Amino acid sequence: MLIDLKNKVAIVTGAGRGIGNEIAKTLAGEGAIIVVTDIRQELLDAVAEEWQRNGWRGLQLLCDVRKTEDNRAAVAAVEQAFGRIDILVNNAGVAGGARVEELSEETWDLNLDVNLKGTFLMCQAVIPVMKRQRSGRILNASSFAAIIPSVGGAAYAASKSGVEGLTRVLAGELGAHEITVNCYAPGMIPTAMNRFADRTDAEKSRLLDTLTLRRWGSPKDVANLICFLASDLASYITGTMIDVSGGKFATQMPWVSHREP
Ligand SMILES: NC(=O)c1ccc[n+]([C@@H]2O[C@H](COP(=O)([O-])OP(=O)(O)OC[C@H]3O[C@@H](n4cnc5c(N)ncnc54)[C@H](O)[C@@H]3O)[C@@H](O)[C@H]2O)c1
Repeated sequence: MLIDLKNKVAIVTGAGRGIGNEIAKTLAGEGAIIVVTDIRQELLDAVAEEWQRNGWRGLQLLCDVRKTEDNRAAVAAVEQAFGRIDILVNNAGVAGGARVEELSEETWDLNLDVNLKGTFLMCQAVIPVMKRQRSGRILNASSFAAIIPSVGGAAYAASKSGVEGLTRVLAGELGAHEITVNCYAPGMIPTAMNRFADRTDAEKSRLLDTLTLRRWGSPKDVANLICFLASDLASYITGTMIDVSGGKFATQMPWVSHREP
């Protein structure tokens, strides 16, 4: 059985770098037409070069997911260029925070605005197109922080828990239109966002101890899940959150078996 994404039109938000970039490349490699959006033009320029080099089809669009007009303009541009939108991956995100007592309102708002409101606004822009087609796949980046949050991560955890709630409501609202909506919860994927790779060896070891597979995830691990969820093979999956964390805290002490001789 093959995952067939040939000629599907996909929008991946915040795909200039990191996990979103790998999702975009993996979908493009499977033959999908990929629209990469990001808030940073220099990242989009690098994407454009790579797309040209590989002969991949698509568009690169500057779009701040916090802005209604940007999202609507991006969706209109995709419809005009390709006539349809099969897949929306709401990947754009920020992380950052402090303990609640010290957390600034600005940091709270940034997390909620990009991660949650951005997802809401982009969905709102794409839904009419998918409804007209009577088909679509919406995939939202939540986080393991929505399952077990970290101390100092109130704003991020609240935003990503919100994404899970929004996903389920949307699945309910859109099921009758043959549109599925799911979210996914990456665990620890070293990227520029979290700088896991820059931690001390002792810190890294403590973090790895929480993972059943005791290794970092890669953007490709997430991209492979997205390929499946975006495909026809996943047509009976909606309204759920899928953990892609290498089994983070699948048991209370996942490190025990890694210490056995
Ligand atoms: N890396 C991890 O371990 C991890 C874990 C759980 C969830 N996630 C989620 O996965 C997604 C990608 O994370 P990443 O680690 O690749 O981060 P990253 O910082 O490398 O990439 C995020 C991208 O989003 C873009 N972006 C930021 N604000 C934007 C805005 N307002 N509009 C449009 N684009 C914007 C950035 O320019 C960047 O290209 C995020 O939603 C993140 O919360 C990541």
